[in-house]
Amino acid sequence: MKTLNISTRLLSEAVWRRIFDNAAPRYMQKRQSFFDLMASLDLLRKGAEYNTGSISTSSAWALYSVAGLFQPEKVLEVGTFIGKSTMAIATGMHDSGLQNGILHTCDLSNAIELPNTTNVKITQHKKTSSTEMFRQIQLSHNNKHQFQFIHLDGRLQNDDIPILAKICSTDIVIALDDFEGFEKGTFNFANMQAANILTDHILIYPPSEALLRDFGFVDHSTTALLLHKNTIDFTPQ
Ligand SMILES: C[S@@+](CC[C@H](N)C(=O)[O-])C[C@H]1O[C@@H](n2cnc3c(N)ncnc32)[C@H](O)[C@@H]1O
Repeated sequence: MKTLNISTRLLSEAVWRRIFDNAAPRYMQKRQSFFDLMASLDLLRKGAEYNTGSISTSSAWALYSVAGLFQPEKVLEVGTFIGKSTMAIATGMHDSGLQNGILHTCDLSNAIELPNTTNVKITQHKKTSSTEMFRQIQLSHNNKHQFQFIHLDGRLQNDDIPILAKICSTDIVIALDDFEGFEKGTFNFANMQAANILTDHILIYPPSEALLRDFGFVDHSTTALLLHKNTIDFTPQ
């Protein structure tokens, strides 16, 4: 018997539609305060030692929606900068009703203090490389496979992946910024794949512009996801 093939493009469309549909009630209630918060974070650029790019409006909403849907209790991030992604994820966790969430975020070149408006315990590892942060966490968490969501908005270093494999749960949700062309998102994906730690994860491309337009966004997003097959359920309706 033959099998039914579903392309990555088609699956990605379905996954993002489901993620944004799930967040739609919160979009109606929270969008003003959420996008006001994102805009206020732009003011932190004046304190940057390395003034670089931040995430787009639709990527911020995508991260908020992913965090709200999966409700991870323990989160990692590489690349804090002005904290739009950090606060999008933390706000998504908070607004979903999650209690006791923690989030560790690092930035090699910046030390910008973020205003935390959520119940998530955010630990900023300022002027700290991903390798240093992962090593500290490995020591303090005794190698337990605990972290359930990671956002990568910096370049993974050579030593990072073996440590990540020890501190992350096997079904971790991975969000990759800049997943296009020869940008860091595609490199991070290729490096993790080469290290053989993604055998049961499925690549979800960034949401298409057409889908983003349906949900009222006029910019574009380069946020891809890697979802473990156990984090997707097929339902009858
Ligand atoms: C594109 S910016 C992050 C934007 C941020 N996510 C936001 O929403 O505002 C990337 C930041 O990651 C930092 N970075 C890159 N690679 C890193 C690494 N391996 N470890 C720690 N920080 C890193 C850079 O110094 C830079 O400040």
